[in-house]
Amino acid sequence: MSELLVVEDLTVTFPTTRGPVDVVKDVSFTVGRNETVGIVGESGSGKSMTSLAVMGLLPPGATTKGSIRLDGVELLGRPDRELRRVRGEQASMIFQDPLSSLNPYYTVGLQIEEMYRAHRRCSRKEARRVVVEALTQVGIPEPERRAGYYPHQFSGGQRQRVMIAMALVCSPALLIADEPTTALDVTVQAQILTLLAGLQRDSGTGMVFVTHDLAVISSIATRVLVMCRGEQVEYGEAEQVFAAPRHDYTRMLLESIPRIDDEVVL
Ligand SMILES: Nc1ncnc2c1ncn2[C@@H]1O[C@H](COP(=O)(O)OP(=O)(O)O)[C@@H](O)[C@H]1O
Ligand SMILES: [Mg+2]
Repeated sequence: MSELLVVEDLTVTFPTTRGPVDVVKDVSFTVGRNETVGIVGESGSGKSMTSLAVMGLLPPGATTKGSIRLDGVELLGRPDRELRRVRGEQASMIFQDPLSSLNPYYTVGLQIEEMYRAHRRCSRKEARRVVVEALTQVGIPEPERRAGYYPHQFSGGQRQRVMIAMALVCSPALLIADEPTTALDVTVQAQILTLLAGLQRDSGTGMVFVTHDLAVISSIATRVLVMCRGEQVEYGEAEQVFAAPRHDYTRMLLESIPRIDDEVVL
C-alpha cells in the first residue's frame, strides 16, 4: 500500500532564552490512504507542533529537521507560496477551538465559499451549491438559511461541524484533527467523533487524530503514536499498544481511563 504521509525523524526546535529547545524530537510515523492514526499525549507533549509542522504552519522562529512527505513529495523546506496550495487542497486541519479559527465578521457560508474558490475555478453560484452540500454533509439543519449565519449564531458543536465542512470542502487527501472535540461536552463530543469517522470512511481521507484522551483514540484509530515531552515513546497498531504497552508512560495513560467494570464506590 502506498503511504499518504511519511514523517521521518521530525525535530522541531525553538530558540529560547535558555538556548534552543526541541519541542518535537525524532518523531516518525506514517499514515496510509483511508487510515486514521492517533497521536496521544498529555498537554505540552508536542502533538500540536507535530501537526503544525505537517501543515507548514509552525510559529515564526521554529526550525525543523527530518522529512515530511505527502504523496511522495517533500514538504519541509518548500516555500510558503507552495505550501499554501497544499493546504486546503491536499491537507487540511481542524483545530480545537473553532471560534478562534472562524472569522466572526463573515457568514460561515462565505468562509467556506472562499476556501473553495481559493483552490477551484468556479462561479459564485457553483460555489454556493458546494457550500450547501458541505453543510448538509456535516449535519447542519436548514443549510441554505444557515449558510447566512455568523459563527456566534451556532452552538459549539455546530461550529465544529462548520469547521469540518470547511476543512473537507476541497476533498483533501489528508485531514489533521487537533483535539477537535476537547472544548465540547461529552454527548456532542461523541456526535462529532461519529461524524468524523463516517466522513473519513466515505471519502477515503487519511486522518491524523490528535487527543490527550486514549479512550477516544481506541474508538477511532487503527495505529497510534504516543508522545511524551516531545518524544515518541510508543508507535504501533492501536490494539497491540493497548494490549501490551511497552512504556511506563503509556501504561499510566491507560490506567487513567475509567473502565466499565470498575467498581463504583458511593
Ligand atoms: N512559540 C513557542 N516557543 C517556544 N516553545 C513553544 C512555543 N509554542 C509552544 N511551545 C512549547 O512546545 C511544547 C509542545 O507544545 P504543543 O505541541 O502545543 O503541545 P500539545 O499540543 O501536545 O499540548 C510545549 O512545551 C510548549 O511550551
Ligand atoms: Mg495541542
